[in-house]
Amino acid sequence: MALRLAGKTAVITGAASGIAKATATLFASQGCRLVLADRDADRGADVAKLIAAEHGTECEFVACDVSSAVDVQKAVSAAADMGLGQIDALVNVAGVDIIATLAQTDEARWRRTLDVNLTSIYLTCHAALPHLQAAGRSAIVNGVLLLVLVLLLLLLTSSSTQSQASRAAAASRPTPRTPRPKARASRSRGSSPWSTRLRGSA
Ligand SMILES: NC(=O)c1ccc[n+]([C@@H]2O[C@H](COP(=O)([O-])OP(=O)(O)OC[C@H]3O[C@@H](n4cnc5c(N)ncnc54)[C@H](O)[C@@H]3O)[C@@H](O)[C@H]2O)c1
Repeated sequence: MALRLAGKTAVITGAASGIAKATATLFASQGCRLVLADRDADRGADVAKLIAAEHGTECEFVACDVSSAVDVQKAVSAAADMGLGQIDALVNVAGVDIIATLAQTDEARWRRTLDVNLTSIYLTCHAALPHLQAAGRSAIVNGVLLLVLVLLLLLLTSSSTQSQASRAAAASRPTPRTPRPKARASRSRGSSPWSTRLRGSA
C-alpha cells in the first residue's frame, strides 16, 4: 500500500500500544519520520526503538500526558524540530474508556475522561496547527473517542431505565380478556433502532 509518506513527519499519540502503535509501524514502513507520544514512558520508548531499528526511519518517543498542554507542546516541538518547522500529519489515538454505568461514574472520572479523550484533541491540534499549515498539504486524524463513551453511557442508562419502566408497566397492566395478536417484528412508528433493540434486550 503506497501512502506517499516518505520523507514526511508525523506525530502519533497513544503509540505505546494498540491502534496507534500499528499506525506508527505502518507509517514507518512507508519512510515517514515519527514522534510517538504516550504517557507510558517505558513501553513508548521501547516501541520507538523497535520501529527505528526495523524500518530505519527517524522515530523519537516523547513521554506525554495528552491532557497536559505543556506535555503536548513538548511532543509537537520535537516533531517540528524533526520536520524543520513542518508537521505533515497529526494522529490522535491516545484515549481511555469508561466501562461503567452512569451511577458508577463519579464526576472526577467523568472529567478525567473528557480531558484525555476530548480536550487532548484541542490541545494537540492547537499546538500543531502552525506547523501543519507550514507544511501546506497536511492532515489531522482524530479517533471518535467521545462518541463511543457517550453511546456506552446512553446504552447502559437507557437499558436500565427502560427495563425498570417495562417491569412497572407489566405489574400495573390488567390481564387481557381476549388473546392478543402475535407481536410483529416491525417497529412502532417513531421509535428508533436503538429503542427497539433496548426494549428487546431488557
Ligand atoms: N480497539 C478498538 O476496537 C477501538 C474501537 C473504538 C475506539 N477505540 C478507542 O481508541 C483508543 C485507542 O484504542 P486502542 O485499542 O489502541 O487502546 P490501547 O489501550 O491499546 O491504547 C491506548 C494508548 O493510549 C495511551 N494513553 C492513555 N491515556 C493517555 C494519556 N492521558 N496521555 C497519553 N497517552 C495516553 C495508553 O498508554 C495506550 O498506549 C481507546 O481510547 C479506545 O477506546 C478503540
